[in-house]
Amino acid sequence: MGDQVTDAGWWSDAVGYEVYLRSFADSDGDGIGDLPGLISRLDHLADLGVDIVWVTPFYPSPMADFGYDVADHTGVDPRFGTIDDLDRLVAAVHERDMRLLIDLVPNHTSDQHEWFRSALADPASPYRDFYIWRDGAPDGGPPNNWRSHFGGPAWTLDEASGQWWCHLFLPEQPDLNWANPDVRAAFEDIITHWLARGVDGFRIDVAHSLVKHPSFADNPVLVEVGPDASAGEAFGAMRHDHDLDQPGTLDVYRDWHRLAREHDAVLLGEVYLDSAEAVGAYVADGVLDLSFFFPVLHTTWDAEVLRHVVTATLTHGRGRFAWVHSSHDDPRAPTRFGGGDRGRRRALSFLAFTAFLPGPLFLYQGDELGLVDGEVDPAAASDPVAVRNTNPDGGRDPVRTPMPWSPDAPNLGFSTGTPWLPMPANHTAADTVDAQREDPGSTLHAVRRLLRTRRERRPGTDPVELLAEGPAEVLGYRSGDVLVVLNAGDRTVTVPLPGPVELAFSNGTVDVGSGRAVLEPDAVAVMEVTT
Ligand code: NOJ
Repeated sequence: MGDQVTDAGWWSDAVGYEVYLRSFADSDGDGIGDLPGLISRLDHLADLGVDIVWVTPFYPSPMADFGYDVADHTGVDPRFGTIDDLDRLVAAVHERDMRLLIDLVPNHTSDQHEWFRSALADPASPYRDFYIWRDGAPDGGPPNNWRSHFGGPAWTLDEASGQWWCHLFLPEQPDLNWANPDVRAAFEDIITHWLARGVDGFRIDVAHSLVKHPSFADNPVLVEVGPDASAGEAFGAMRHDHDLDQPGTLDVYRDWHRLAREHDAVLLGEVYLDSAEAVGAYVADGVLDLSFFFPVLHTTWDAEVLRHVVTATLTHGRGRFAWVHSSHDDPRAPTRFGGGDRGRRRALSFLAFTAFLPGPLFLYQGDELGLVDGEVDPAAASDPVAVRNTNPDGGRDPVRTPMPWSPDAPNLGFSTGTPWLPMPANHTAADTVDAQREDPGSTLHAVRRLLRTRRERRPGTDPVELLAEGPAEVLGYRSGDVLVVLNAGDRTVTVPLPGPVELAFSNGTVDVGSGRAVLEPDAVAVMEVTT
């Protein structure tokens, strides 16, 4: 179904892996993951079957938002390493036949970026117009009712000039003014710089909100919320008619697309919009190559919800929405699907279900281990969303706890020092890479087998036909000779088969016999139709 794109590039059926650098592997004992640590663990990714390593920001940063507040777009923060380490990373990734994606953060900079420092110090500075400044409302309040994703108004007053700067995230993350051609030119230089240095593409942060409506009008309020509302509730209480997904945004990416093509590089957007149709526009020909579609990583274990996100992805993604199950911002799939062994089993089954559909498949560090969200003591909270709000929504610390590598080493092998976020008590020796490597029944072995099967079957080249018949709690599709069936219900189901099949991968108890497959709850079967 859907009109899948067939003339895609090297990324079209790749396996990506998100490295949240700060929490991946610490080489120098300062408790913070770094580039040398990542290099030392690349063989784990190569063994797993990863094609694309996406590394989160390593740029110099005051770390108000852990690196998504960039103070210098072409440097490396000393906590993460040096520019030589970055060059070594590019080479080490390429030596293993993988490609490197880096994060590009174009919606905002750090308030410590030299552009903003100059803009704040001197309203006559050429950099003043790199940012968005407005006079306050007649009552002395902010210029409009826009909210920050992270809580509070999207505006902060610069007392010296009497104007307010716009920030859809923290006040320390002032939004850039994409109506200014000099900002566009500056980012084209940044992109060119990194492509020349050998990176293979960019994950584009907040790709849906660079351009703001020139009227700067209030957003329509959907529900009135009180001062106790969480940041997420307050942000969701308005229709984002003027601050998100504005006309003109795609023109920025059309220019970048031309640059990327000159280097055979890929552009992957963080297009955080709920409508698949709206996200689909970002991956039209000549715009971005790929996008994440976030409703996939917000699903609960409900057949209707899963069916909906799969259908929307096939219809509007056309092979250009990257499948994603967990991230450094969202609850991990095993936790969303109920936690414990059951949540883990379901997460692996849904991963396998999506693995043979068109589009790249991204794992987040720990997905290959079946990691659930870490338990973080509120006293150790670090995420600004948790620290700066009285009603914090939980924050993102639980999905950012350090990666567990070895059962016997201090801090499960993440660091010899004190980890910046404590190792959670609910991640144990059995969750580590080394322990799972020794256990043929582990999630790690299953994911490696799954990715090998996927590579052999090459998804995305045949049209996908969703199975319409069978019990409502069963999701299934056929693509060429590959037939995949998932039982998202609470009872064992029997699914009729079109003919003889061989079982290529399964999770949970599956019995494939003549003319039918029997699947226990939460099980998946990947089959090859043999006639
Ligand atoms: C999305 C990033 O993934 C998130 O971690 C960050 O806080 C925001 N964008 C702001 O840059």
